[in-house]
Amino acid sequence: MKIVMNDNNRGIKIAGIGSFVPPLTVTNEDLAGTLDTSDEWIYSRTGIKTRHYNGGKPNYTMAVEAARGALENANISAAEIDYVIVTTSTPDFLYPITACLVQNAVGAVNAACLDISMACTGFVGGLDVARGLLYSGYNKILFVASECLTLHADFKDRATCVLFGDSAGAVVLERAGKLFASCMKAKGVSPEAPVLYYKMNNMINAPFCENNSDSILPRLQMDGKEVYKFAVDAMPEAAKAACEKAGLGLDEIDLFIPHQANIRIVQTAAKSLGIGMDKVYTNIEKYGNTSSACMPVCLDELNKAGRLKEGMKLCFVGFGAGLTYGAVIIEI
Ligand code: UT7
Repeated sequence: MKIVMNDNNRGIKIAGIGSFVPPLTVTNEDLAGTLDTSDEWIYSRTGIKTRHYNGGKPNYTMAVEAARGALENANISAAEIDYVIVTTSTPDFLYPITACLVQNAVGAVNAACLDISMACTGFVGGLDVARGLLYSGYNKILFVASECLTLHADFKDRATCVLFGDSAGAVVLERAGKLFASCMKAKGVSPEAPVLYYKMNNMINAPFCENNSDSILPRLQMDGKEVYKFAVDAMPEAAKAACEKAGLGLDEIDLFIPHQANIRIVQTAAKSLGIGMDKVYTNIEKYGNTSSACMPVCLDELNKAGRLKEGMKLCFVGFGAGLTYGAVIIEI
């Protein structure tokens, strides 16, 4: 028996939005003082002028600030939350999971906790997972994306460290009879050529094992050109597929909120979709690439600027290590 399901109208309400961008601002000129680089190179190749660093503080501290902001904006108490989900690729601990640290700090005493690891695609994928949980019986989800890339970046590698910054964003989600459509995808990589990665060094001193004697601290590594090539195809593919599922034309999307990795990637993807940059929200110039946290920080900026109106259709579209990619369309 073929079961046909059209559940596009089992959507989500964004009941609250918060974000945290640490106050320490690092300009391209600051980086040019420590690396063989320049404002001209960084800005013309990436669109980045400044990024913010969490100053050596743990990642979860940003997650907690963003979570508190979202709860306050939703005007609900933490005890009403029944699931805390965190997406991060830069956790302070592998366990306990970051969601449990956030739960404890905000006092979400009635919540279950889950961490999602999907690199920069984590906010898009997390919206999809959260929506599934809402329709399996949970009522209020606190979903946080928090990324402290300064914990992973190699500050001797000018080709990568100039791109990244730290930030966190959070949303409170509830069920709503509104449009929702998603298209999540991945193009897996081999461990010999992982393209964009941070390899754990967990075999040091393990008895009865083939020890990894390399005791150099792991650092983020990237084949920038490969990621670029992947991204300019992956983003349009996912956005188109999500629109198709939603039964919408690309021109019916009010605003695209893309992963903020490189303004040239965003412009190329927009061109290939045939949409103008006036339909695309970016803030990469100020914050650089903060992985999964980019999108909820954009959302909080839009909310605070009064630009989110009921009935608007937003398309979140991203890509990241894995290689993961996807798009989610929500009617707000
Ligand atoms: O969330 C996903 C994360 N990753 C990404 O989004 C990365 C996607 N890739 C990119 O955005 C681009 O590939 C980069 C911005 C990383 C690099 O831009 P590119 O135009 O592909 O530069 P390139 O790697 O081809 O390097 C061109 C030159 C090289 O010098 P030579 O070999 O031509 O002499 C690099 O050594 O630029 C040099 N270079 C720099 N020069 C000054 C690389 N990084 C820098 C730098 N400052 N920061």
